[in-house]
Amino acid sequence: MSDMATEVRAPGDALTFDPDAVRAAFPILDQEMNGRPMVFLDSGASTQKPEAVIAAEAEFYRHDYANIHRGVYDLSQRASDAFDGGRRKVQAFLGAADWREIVFTRNTTEAINLVAWSFLEPRLQPSDEILVTTMEHHSNIVPWQLVAMRHGAKVVAVPITDAGELNLAALREMIGPRTKMLACTWVSNVLGTVNPVAEIVGIAHAAGVPVLLDAAQAVQHVAVDVQEVGADFLAFSAHKIYGPSGVGVLYGKREHLEAMPPWQGGGGIVDRVTFEGTTYGEIPFRFEAGTPDIAGVHGLGTALDWFGQFDIRAVEAHEIRLMAEAQRALQQIPGLHALGDPRHRTGALSFWVDGLHHQDVGAMLDLDGIAIRTGHHCAQPLHRRFGLEGSARASFGIYNNEADVAALADSLRYIVRKYG
Ligand code: ALA
Repeated sequence: MSDMATEVRAPGDALTFDPDAVRAAFPILDQEMNGRPMVFLDSGASTQKPEAVIAAEAEFYRHDYANIHRGVYDLSQRASDAFDGGRRKVQAFLGAADWREIVFTRNTTEAINLVAWSFLEPRLQPSDEILVTTMEHHSNIVPWQLVAMRHGAKVVAVPITDAGELNLAALREMIGPRTKMLACTWVSNVLGTVNPVAEIVGIAHAAGVPVLLDAAQAVQHVAVDVQEVGADFLAFSAHKIYGPSGVGVLYGKREHLEAMPPWQGGGGIVDRVTFEGTTYGEIPFRFEAGTPDIAGVHGLGTALDWFGQFDIRAVEAHEIRLMAEAQRALQQIPGLHALGDPRHRTGALSFWVDGLHHQDVGAMLDLDGIAIRTGHHCAQPLHRRFGLEGSARASFGIYNNEADVAALADSLRYIVRKYG
């Protein structure tokens, strides 16, 4: 591990948040879709990339690329430094105590699977329970079901209220001696609900239950500090925070990771290999079998540097203001209903329209150059909770502005008037 300096800015040093300048940093946004200026409102699925990230990856491939931690030659050393620097930047971004607590995976889903199989599976007994919530993405449900199935354990969902908030009283009642894990999203990818994660972790820890937080929809919208929140594990994906796709992060407390066996076998994770048996290496390398996405980790580090220019409170305030504006405009459209109304919401606003299929709504918005996501958004139990099969979702990023909200509202007003 090289000792690459990590750029950390105190909030007081942060650049003034100028939405127009931010938007101009994203070349992809400057185009037309179906003959209209493109309005990108699908950042919950994946965010667009600023020029700084695109250029950093291209430069890396042009000048510094080689495999890492394997070569004595200068180029491999440079590539290793860039990769290791990416890990340090993630550590600083999350406020983790130690770089060894940062494991690179392919995405959030793989990070959750790693915890399910390496941390939880060896300690599960029949009739144990894994608590999740009704608002989870499938990737924070299905991995737990797979390990539960092996041991006759159960995955149980903590209910949510009609407003789309987690029922904390129910959580307090449901957590108990049989609970072996609590897996909870920080921000819902459908409702935009921001869960009170520090309180949730407190409830779980008081009952001796470890917690995994799915922060895939949180890191790009709210301040995330793993030590402040106290989670045992936290997962997120680079592509949701203006970085490349193909790189995920698992944060795990050092004492947990050190006690966990490897999950996937391969090169890079071992100490000594013989046909009689193999001994495994140190964390985090024990969990990183095979050649990783080297340029991707460098790209993630660049994305975090870029994002770190701004005071997260200014980013959050900008996005919350836009979403409130969108909610106000959409509420005035007859027959359009928002899913949930949580007190603290960021990122996503989902809705349905009487008499119109959500897919048709999405297709008609596309004709106006507006990109949203339609369907169940990998959250079928959540939609069932609201008596729906799916919904339309507008999700916001750092680059969205008032014009995007106005275009969405205008187009929806027209669609509902004509076809609703
Ligand atoms: N999880 C991503 C979404 O919510 C793909 O769209």
